[in-house]
Amino acid sequence: MEKEIHKVKKIVGKLRVPSDKSISHRSVILTSMANGVSRVKNFLKAGDTLTTVNVYRKLGIKIEENGGVIKVHGKGLKGFTEPDDILDMGNSGTTTRLTLGVLAGQEFFSVMTGDDSLRKRPMKRVTQPLKDMNANIDGRNEGSLLPISVRGSKLKGVLFFNEKASAQVKSALLIAGMNAEGKTIIEEPFKSRDHTEKMLQFMGAPITVSEGEVYRVTVKTTERLNPIDVEVPADPSSAAFFAAAAVIVPNSSLVLEEVLVNPTRDGFFRKLKEMGAEISYENVREKTGEPVADIHVRYSPDIRGVRIGREDIPSMVDEIPILAVVATQAEGETIITGASELRVKESDRIKAVVENLRNVGVEVEELEDGMVIKGKQKIKGGYVNSYKDHRIAMAFSILGLVSEEGVKIKDADCAYISYPEFFEHLQSVIEK
Ligand code: S3P
Repeated sequence: MEKEIHKVKKIVGKLRVPSDKSISHRSVILTSMANGVSRVKNFLKAGDTLTTVNVYRKLGIKIEENGGVIKVHGKGLKGFTEPDDILDMGNSGTTTRLTLGVLAGQEFFSVMTGDDSLRKRPMKRVTQPLKDMNANIDGRNEGSLLPISVRGSKLKGVLFFNEKASAQVKSALLIAGMNAEGKTIIEEPFKSRDHTEKMLQFMGAPITVSEGEVYRVTVKTTERLNPIDVEVPADPSSAAFFAAAAVIVPNSSLVLEEVLVNPTRDGFFRKLKEMGAEISYENVREKTGEPVADIHVRYSPDIRGVRIGREDIPSMVDEIPILAVVATQAEGETIITGASELRVKESDRIKAVVENLRNVGVEVEELEDGMVIKGKQKIKGGYVNSYKDHRIAMAFSILGLVSEEGVKIKDADCAYISYPEFFEHLQSVIEK
């Protein structure tokens, strides 16, 4: 499906964007390992998280939906059953990598595959450390690409340095570590999103965290996990698109309600502030152990270009495409480096952003690990390719709002992966 987005007068009102994708995945995967029934309020119903629900049902977990609340009937750390067919992980890297950590310690055989994009994404970053824990895993290209098979085995703990600061890798090893003999220790140069360790601690897992020169999480062999009640807040990665719209469209003022502002996730909003945007956190409070806020964003004509380096990436890894969109409207250059991980996301997001910015008339330089964007540019408009990547489709829709001739987006319906209501929500805050 193609979508065409045109210039608008302003963005106004209030919006509660859909629930957090990362926490929603974990609220099924981790609770399915608990002994008893967990309840999840405000579970995100989108492409990726529904993949997780389907996969865990195929692994023998009863998951019910009742008036907006999901009930997960956990069967214990080793309570899954052998699936009778190949598991389809769709487009979801998070489901795949975390589930590899689950399956490595079960007593059965399983195979997983995914769509065209997922079958190109690197899995060795998870399969190698899992093999070091004694996991029995194989796959295409020496276990680095889907389809991948797992024959459950007796695991042992390891010390792993998470060079790429990947939360998916950390989470897979923490999950496997609960079913392993001894201790599993994961160290990170920069702290990646910490939802897995937080939720597991909440469930009573023997997990300790220390924050010094490196961030270190340690997990011991775990006997049982307690079921929990979770309420999922709004996703900062989805809120980012609307915050960007309010910053760049003249006369805008928008309140984004109940957004997760965990410091491992809110790097985009902090960068906007550093650029000089008018943005404030109001009514800051806690929801099941996570900080949330209503974020008020106003049109900010005087924003300046900014530098984004390696240390900034983990807390805004999924927001680089929309940050690039905002940068086209800032005074001066924005320089993004240390972001080579973007090349192996749902699409090569560096290539996709650079190519699409050029298509709509923006001057931009591609770097191996980032890009340089010239500011204060007129957006002529034109045709962009989403590469079926949800975040590329949504980022360029927002750029369309300040374009002279409109932006037409190819395969815009891929937004459903994280945000099925994106275009309706956009309509609801536009004043023409
Ligand atoms: C995620 C971690 C990040 C992020 C992804 C979701 C998670 O990936 O890009 O969208 O839920 O753990 P990496 O672990 O590859 O950094």
